[in-house]
Amino acid sequence: METKRRSVDRVNPEAELIKEGAEWLRAGELVAFPTETVYGLGANALDASACAKIFAAKGRPQDNPLIVHVSSLAMANSCVNNWTSSAELCVKNFWPGPLTLILPKTSLIPDIVTACLDNVAVRMPSHPVALRLIEEAGVPIAAPSANLSGKPSPTRGGHVWRDMKGKIPLILDAGACEVGLESTVLDVSGEVPTILRPGGITREQLEAVLGDVYTDSCSENQAPRAPGMKYRHYAPQGELILVSGHRERVVQRMVQEIIRGHSRFKKVGVLCTLESASYLHDRHPDLLFVLGSKDQPSEVARNIFEGLRLCDERKMDLILVEGIEEGGLGSAVMNRLEKAAGKRTQHI
Ligand code: TXA
Ligand code: MG
Repeated sequence: METKRRSVDRVNPEAELIKEGAEWLRAGELVAFPTETVYGLGANALDASACAKIFAAKGRPQDNPLIVHVSSLAMANSCVNNWTSSAELCVKNFWPGPLTLILPKTSLIPDIVTACLDNVAVRMPSHPVALRLIEEAGVPIAAPSANLSGKPSPTRGGHVWRDMKGKIPLILDAGACEVGLESTVLDVSGEVPTILRPGGITREQLEAVLGDVYTDSCSENQAPRAPGMKYRHYAPQGELILVSGHRERVVQRMVQEIIRGHSRFKKVGVLCTLESASYLHDRHPDLLFVLGSKDQPSEVARNIFEGLRLCDERKMDLILVEGIEEGGLGSAVMNRLEKAAGKRTQHI
């Protein structure tokens, strides 16, 4: 299949491009589009065979459900059976924006979208291109991140192009995503709101509005409540080591790993904070990518997937990533890095 990649204005998206995207969606095809978090791979959420194409294009396991994106509350109502009071508070305070709500679904939503669960994930994105596209399509749009399953999420049109070219008819490219990490997934179907995936809206922001919020601590043997969280995720091709803790010790450890990597003829990539960059630069890694200041987790969030993908493009064998402090967006960044590193996490 020929894939068209079209540049679209992020603030005032061109009407003819939105129309083209909406036509593909209504015809049961896939369209990749920007959101404020990451790029999504969209299909008509009411069309089971269109949604099946998402799983095929990504190589996504069928038991991992999809987020349904809406452009209005009326559209959200058509997907959700029963709004809890905490869900209503979330809508008032955080929509449109990077917060996905888990709520009981209506019969309109096909089983393939929810992986046969009774609950559906819904989100109203704030990106003008996403909102206009959904509105023009006139149907809710199911969209996971537009990467091949297991790879870092795409935060630029070029990332989507690399993963999806030849598989989908259209990519709407509006440049870099502002948040850079996926939405927070919050289960508001029960008594106490529970974070299933940390993301663009922080725990602190949620607690300011909802009071106590739980975090789902899914153990190995338990069925996770967000099925997607059990899979290997965000992983570049090279071996990734995440080093976090006291900054001077972190830098020392990373220097040791650079030397060890080079002694084994490995290409070593380093993703680090601005504050550590000059020390590590002097040790001549094969790639040095600055994630942003350690005091600006939103900067690190925006750059992290770009950095991981760059390591793949430049064929790094070993990737050393400096962790940042937990709290706020820092917790979401560390969640993604821990998943990308698997067991190769060193806290020192
Ligand atoms: O920011 C985002 O959320 C992006 C953009 C495109 O909106 N989308 C995204 O989708 O990250 P995806 O498919 O990569 O991640 C969706 C997560 C998975 O962990 C999945 O298991 C969980 O949401 N999820 C979806 N539906 C669910 C449901 N009904 N119950 C529990 N978890 C659900
Ligand atoms: Mg994803």
